[in-house]
Amino acid sequence: MSDEVQLIKDKIDVADLIAEYVQLKPAGINKKGLCPFHHEKSPSFMVNSERQGWHCFGCGKGGDIFTFVQEMEGMEFKEALKHLANRAGVQLTSYRSDVDSSQKNRLKDINVEAARFFHNFLLKMPAAKPAMDYLINRGLKNETIEEWQVGFVPEQWDLLTQYLLKKGFSIDDLVVSGLTIKRDPSAGLGRAGSGFYDRFRGRVMFPIWNVHGEVVGFTGRILVEKENSGGKYVNTPQTLVYDKSRVIFGLNKAKQEIKAKDSVVMVEGQMDVVACHQAGMKNVVASSGTALTEEQVKLLKRYSLNLNMAFDSDDAGQNAAKRGIDIAIREGINIRVISIPVGFGKDPDECLKKNPSVWFQSVEKARGIMDWYFEKILVGKDLSLPRQKQLAADQLLPEIALIPYAVERDHWLRQLGEKLGVDVAVLREDIVRLGRREIRNKKLEMSSEGEEIVAEDDRLTKLIERLMVMALRFSDLFCEVVAGKLGDVLSTGRFGSLYTEMKREYTENNKIDMEKLRGIIESADKENLIDILLMKGELDFSGIQTNEAKNELRKLLASIMEEWQKKQRKEMQGIIEKAERDGDKTKLNELVKKFGKI
Ligand code: UTP
Ligand code: MN
Repeated sequence: MSDEVQLIKDKIDVADLIAEYVQLKPAGINKKGLCPFHHEKSPSFMVNSERQGWHCFGCGKGGDIFTFVQEMEGMEFKEALKHLANRAGVQLTSYRSDVDSSQKNRLKDINVEAARFFHNFLLKMPAAKPAMDYLINRGLKNETIEEWQVGFVPEQWDLLTQYLLKKGFSIDDLVVSGLTIKRDPSAGLGRAGSGFYDRFRGRVMFPIWNVHGEVVGFTGRILVEKENSGGKYVNTPQTLVYDKSRVIFGLNKAKQEIKAKDSVVMVEGQMDVVACHQAGMKNVVASSGTALTEEQVKLLKRYSLNLNMAFDSDDAGQNAAKRGIDIAIREGINIRVISIPVGFGKDPDECLKKNPSVWFQSVEKARGIMDWYFEKILVGKDLSLPRQKQLAADQLLPEIALIPYAVERDHWLRQLGEKLGVDVAVLREDIVRLGRREIRNKKLEMSSEGEEIVAEDDRLTKLIERLMVMALRFSDLFCEVVAGKLGDVLSTGRFGSLYTEMKREYTENNKIDMEKLRGIIESADKENLIDILLMKGELDFSGIQTNEAKNELRKLLASIMEEWQKKQRKEMQGIIEKAERDGDKTKLNELVKKFGKI
């Protein structure tokens, strides 16, 4: 391993890093938590600071700080390297060219350079005066413009593209970054200039950061609306570094406050976020005009489970938000709805301009999503009419069914029963039906993610793994109970070399020296097998006494022998059947004899 990689590992505690994503609790010398890579209810995800590693015993994933951010953030190694080097304050030299050879890293560099360009243009160029006037007129202060790196690009075809080319970036990378568009030759007849033009022209520019504060894209608001100027807002398209379903605007700046207040305010527009922060409300983020996605909800969950949403009061806005709300409810998020009173503007930005304290009060008074749904759905219905009752139930029950907490779900069922004058048992029947459908969907989801479905064939592997876990945790018992008895079963396969080494150690020295064993195995093994098994030991056997362990080991030994023979018989049967099909009599006789022995 290179010095730089090791240096980064030394400077970043794997548990600190992971604690930003997963709640960890102490477990012996390790820490454990719920695995972020698969659904689980009890923790099987272990982190070991001393060995700088992590491992999940539910899904089998594991590794070091690099593999963790790679898995978690969908980064490639070179990207993770740059990211963690920055975090550790380590200057990369021997990896420099590697890091630069990553297109994703180059795209991030392009975005940083473009953000600087837009921002400087706004601050320094006379041509940006109308944009500056516009922003000041909308109430933005200079510090705010500075803090959010707001910028401007004038109405020209390829100003930015030319600038970035001069900076040494390649045209291919610029196109992939989404900032430059290749002209369609069949459509571009008569247009002057090169074959490439800027995506953003004549727009006020807001950089979009990921949660780590890296610029991954932009949103540009048109300054002067014309017929063919495109949408009011234009965004960076999906690129290698920008996936709008995974980014939450403003989260990099809001995350600390969200944690401190244990509450997040979600608004619709970038301008709303900026205006709220300027007004001193700093736990505000935006989903950028789309419904919340599952990835976004999971990202938010790292910081708080209390989500206050302000969405456009018109029906279209609410319907668009609905899917996102459903996802959040199912994820156990506590949602409140912020309503801006009539007459105080259509969005937070407008409300803040009219009367800041009204906005602050609206957030304070946000109502629980279920209360809000109840009112929205029940209002205007004549509940003396059976049809209307059914309609109300049909609309509200699916929402109630989403709630993942039984007690809370029951509360709303009773509430609905009262409102409709219906026996709660009737509603319960209905919700069980809905619940089943829900569970079915969930099951499908889970099996497609490959969760904990142990095939017959895996049983032996699982048993052997358990045996090896015990072997390492209770190495004296291993010598007493196991060593030498499982040669055939264990001398091959994943644990073959470990078992062989342990047996040798035992035969030669009558005991097992763990450090020596580690030395031998680690030099030959990339996945830190011993640490993984020891961590699992911590998880499964932390309270167990020697006596119990001895019994358990004996039982395991017996089960393994049994499974092993079963497997052998099955294999043999297969071979015999084949010989039968082939009509090979001599072979068949031989085999049947052998089979009898087993
Ligand atoms: P709005 O149309 O409500 O705009 O869109 P706004 O935020 O109030 O913008 P201002 O105040 O006029 O500047 C809400 C959000 O939807 C996305 C943007 O993220 C916007 O902030 N949007 C809107 C687009 O992506 N494209 C559009 O054409 C319009
Ligand atoms: Mn607005």
